[in-house]
Amino acid sequence: MAEYVFILGSNWLLSIAELLVYVRNRGYEAVVTDHSRHVVVLDFTQKMTLEEIMDMQGSLGGCYKIGRVIQTYNIILPTNAYPTNGKPDREALEIINSCTWLPDLWQRPRGRKIKFGVSTYPIFDGKAPIQYRRFTRGLDDTIKKKLLQQGARKADYFAYDEPDKRRAKRVNLALWPKTIAQNNLLTPPNAEIIAAFTGNNLYIARTMVIYDSVLQQYRDESRPYISKEISTSPKVCRTLLNLAGARPGDTVLDPFCGTGTLLMEAAMLGMKCIGIDIDGDQVQGTKANLTWFGRDIGQQIHFDVFRGDARNLTNLVNKQVDAVAFEPSLGPVSRNRPTAEEAEVIIEELTELYRDSLTQIAQVLRPDGRVAMTMPVLVSKSGPVPMDIREMIKGTGLGVYRMLPAEMIKSLSNDDERMYITPEREMLPERKMGQIVQRQLIALEK
Ligand SMILES: C[S@@+](CC[C@H](N)C(=O)[O-])C[C@H]1O[C@@H](n2cnc3c(N)ncnc32)[C@H](O)[C@@H]1O
Repeated sequence: MAEYVFILGSNWLLSIAELLVYVRNRGYEAVVTDHSRHVVVLDFTQKMTLEEIMDMQGSLGGCYKIGRVIQTYNIILPTNAYPTNGKPDREALEIINSCTWLPDLWQRPRGRKIKFGVSTYPIFDGKAPIQYRRFTRGLDDTIKKKLLQQGARKADYFAYDEPDKRRAKRVNLALWPKTIAQNNLLTPPNAEIIAAFTGNNLYIARTMVIYDSVLQQYRDESRPYISKEISTSPKVCRTLLNLAGARPGDTVLDPFCGTGTLLMEAAMLGMKCIGIDIDGDQVQGTKANLTWFGRDIGQQIHFDVFRGDARNLTNLVNKQVDAVAFEPSLGPVSRNRPTAEEAEVIIEELTELYRDSLTQIAQVLRPDGRVAMTMPVLVSKSGPVPMDIREMIKGTGLGVYRMLPAEMIKSLSNDDERMYITPEREMLPERKMGQIVQRQLIALEK
């Protein structure tokens, strides 16, 4: 058994679902033993190789870092050592500061110049019984002292980065992947140490891989055709590909391909691409993006992109595809909230468009294949108007695929209801506060 900690994207539940679907797709055996709103701990029956972990990080849309757990403390210990109220318990402090896991990271620090950093992930944002900032600084100082005592020539730590500008109120005690990459913190003897808190435990882990934010940003911004209005984020595209069970070598269909973000992600993961869009400009854009990407990586990309209607796709696609993933049009772009009646009309029209498209999709999808897509929730003047899944899939030959199987999650309920996981839920939200059209993700199977 080997435990790994995964640092989740901002949509924690969707990130967990994606990870579990990925684990099943690849035939690994693992269960969730613990989670918070920032991390999930998975126990694998086998130790993973670095290559497998790198592959996992490279494929997942909702994961920032993966680390191997090297020590687990009961949560009572850090709560007593760094209490928000009351005095620190000396005994608890001593146990944490003894860092018995240190030899796991540095067997022979003597004479070496070491750069490191502790990244702390609280259980959730907001008031907490633990002083996370003091804990992080305390651990950084202790590790430095110990390394110097053990003969290291130099030991410097990187303290946590600036908070995310988009979420200024959220406390950030973690190093950004960019900082880690720029300072080579993953190259021994350097190291990043993850301190992940859950309702039960504090996990100390050594970071093995991180999200390549620089490369991702370069690809997203340098591609020749971009349309901020319609483009789906590359991360959501990756999540959709995983939920659809797409694997390297597979043929993936995006019947609403727009600017081709999802197909670019698929190509990056070694998949063959088929794209359809009703708008000729988007078709040209997708082709330009995929051609550019092929040149950029110096490899030939297999793609077919057609102009056409997803409701008629069997006329265009005459071969079986392994997976279908897409973000369809989610309704008219508007700055003002529609009335409930207007929203209902839009939802009805979209339900019909999706149902007709899914009926065609089911015909080209391989028998054990899956579909993953986004669906809108329109925020009307009187509140959200969601889409009825049953209406959408009626007569399509597709059923709902469960993304959060209970048998894989030991930490379903938690002391705090903000962290409950409901395995029977069919859709997972991808919400951005304040948007008129909010999204849900769903996976379907034949
Ligand atoms: C939300 S966008 C897709 C964005 C895309 N994932 C990207 O990252 O650029 C939806 C796309 O569906 C296309 N579309 C709308 N109705 C369609 C239909 N009936 N068949 C095929 N494409 C359609 C639109 O032209 C638009 O490009």
